[in-house]
Amino acid sequence: MSTLTITDNRTEPSEHAVGKSTLTITDNRTGKTYDVPVDNGTIRAMDLRQIKTGPDDFGLMTYDPAFMNTAACRSAVTFIDGDKGILRYRGYPIEQLAEKSNFLETAYLLLRGELPSRDQLDTWTYNITHHRFVHENVKKFMDGFRYDAHPMGVIISTIAALSTFYTEANQIKNAAIRQRQIFRLIAKTPTLAAFAYRHSVGLPYAYPDDDLSYCGNFLSMLFKATESKYVPNPVLERALDVLFILHADHEQNCSANAMRAVGSSEVDPYSAMAAAAAALYGPLHGGANEQVLRMLREIGDKKRIPDYIKRVKAKEVLLMGFGHRVYKNYDPRAKIIKQIADQVFEATGKNPLIDMALELERIALQDDYFVSHKLYPNVDFYSGIIYEAMGFPVTMFPVLFAIGRTPGWLAQWEEMLLDNEQKIARPRQVYTGSDKRDYAPIDKR
Ligand code: CMC
Repeated sequence: MSTLTITDNRTEPSEHAVGKSTLTITDNRTGKTYDVPVDNGTIRAMDLRQIKTGPDDFGLMTYDPAFMNTAACRSAVTFIDGDKGILRYRGYPIEQLAEKSNFLETAYLLLRGELPSRDQLDTWTYNITHHRFVHENVKKFMDGFRYDAHPMGVIISTIAALSTFYTEANQIKNAAIRQRQIFRLIAKTPTLAAFAYRHSVGLPYAYPDDDLSYCGNFLSMLFKATESKYVPNPVLERALDVLFILHADHEQNCSANAMRAVGSSEVDPYSAMAAAAAALYGPLHGGANEQVLRMLREIGDKKRIPDYIKRVKAKEVLLMGFGHRVYKNYDPRAKIIKQIADQVFEATGKNPLIDMALELERIALQDDYFVSHKLYPNVDFYSGIIYEAMGFPVTMFPVLFAIGRTPGWLAQWEEMLLDNEQKIARPRQVYTGSDKRDYAPIDKR
């Protein structure tokens, strides 16, 4: 195996070393040296291409399966410091937004970069409120799903189907058209989610109520029965709003990366967001909150927690709702969610699973396996327990995550489109297959 020798010429920490520092790379295959600029703690992978053993050599690439150490974009949306447990949207700490903001204001912040004035927020809220209805054909489309269809599958497909209703949406370079689709997606995703839920329980769809807040209306579309006007419980309305704020963005996670990668082909935002929602569906991402509840049910009794922990340590199962690619100290969202749980349980009665979850956390955090692997509860560990207390079936949990994440996906998508450095996302590969060989007819194989 050949090597490179790298000399770090920086004298300052990465984050201060903007533009002027370099690495000197000596290619021990050829003895040649190269100076490669370091900017914001990164080198450009394309700067490595010049490092070649000869004219026929393609040049060096980096190999980084799962993007463990690759920045794929510059982004001004969300900042995370995983070691310190910090999460900020546009510079504002998540704790302050969860306490003082509301979901639509946070959506504005993510998408526009600044907190809105009162007038700006009123206009923003008005625009979203008045895009909540969906075309009647969407209802027919939803009726086509089986009664037991997973609502996340329903919503992924229906978000994609919206592109057939708004054909202008493929004009992604037109700012006004883009903005209209952003309003539509933030406004209609809860409507689709509520319809998916009501389809699954066989209830008639409930239409949006313009008098109610974003979350109040969502609760109404979900749970309205025969009353002429649904009155949401203010505690649950606020709790849901805060949960949506906590989920609103999380920089370059799997689904944001899907949104950017698919969006980079310049497809319409409905198709790109369907891809993002599909990425979210997986149990390692937004599907984890559903799996946490299933896991807690499977454990069934506090006495069985130590046995379950043994299975986790034997790598037979994962402790769902634990661990994170970026947070290696704690997930600040999980802390806030724990506080919301108490408020919700006061309104709904306690979900008995909370005691088991607390005990599981307590035992896990004392265990050397979890401490040494830096595994802490993530946003999904407690959210499902709250959602269940609020009356949501487990299959709706990832759907709720998707509603919250919608503004984040859209902010990431728009930032990608407006970034001159971005092009169609197209990674390289290290080919490991056969060399050229000749086709053999079937009777000669
Ligand atoms: N339970 C047990 N062991 C774990 C867990 C877990 N939940 N998560 C990671 N590990 C172990 C893993 O086995 C590995 O051990 P070793 O080094 O001995 O082989 C080590 O910790 C590092 O794990 P990894 O899989 O390389 O870490 P990653 O950064 O690739 O994965 C993760 C991050 C979130 C996918 C993973 O922690 C996981 O699968 N967690 C459970 C699913 C979950 O809760 N997902 C929600 C994430 S937060 C919300 C969201 O983003 O949607």
